[in-house]
Amino acid sequence: MTEAGAPTAVSGPAAPVVLLLAGPNLDLLGDRQPEVYGRDTLADHVATARDAASRHGLAVEDLQSNHEGELVEAVHGARGRCAAIIVNPGALTHYSWALHDALAAFHGPVVELHLSNPAAREEWRHTSVVSPVATGTITGLGGDGYRLAVEAVAGLIGRERT
Ligand code: DQA
Repeated sequence: MTEAGAPTAVSGPAAPVVLLLAGPNLDLLGDRQPEVYGRDTLADHVATARDAASRHGLAVEDLQSNHEGELVEAVHGARGRCAAIIVNPGALTHYSWALHDALAAFHGPVVELHLSNPAAREEWRHTSVVSPVATGTITGLGGDGYRLAVEAVAGLIGRERT
């Protein structure tokens, strides 16, 4: 389990908070199947997201967990507090109706994010139970997806410029 990262300090007291969630096995990025997921670590991707967020006056709170319930509780904790959620659910993408239901109960935009393109991989990865409750999905663009996801969120919540 990884501790939730503190929101990034950005200018102004009321920077909207974006919750950046990472599911099972993403703590192994950098080492895990680099031919599929690249050599960057999750910390590298979080840094990319924070960098993009700071350009839009957004704060990023990040959490990686290998436990479905912990991610569900993080989504609950975001209700009424976070402006948006960016989630790479890892393999939970393909079967976690609990995460689906939690995200459905969140009132802001949800961006589903994948480093690889699951639709171009094994058949069991072709179904996402998260997509039906996501505002949109970014997939197959590697680490650049983290920047793009933050920019998508900034647009969705009206923070295109600061
Ligand atoms: C992933 C794709 C999932 O199918 C897989 O289980 C992961 C990572 C991605 O970022 O490409 O763990 O979400």
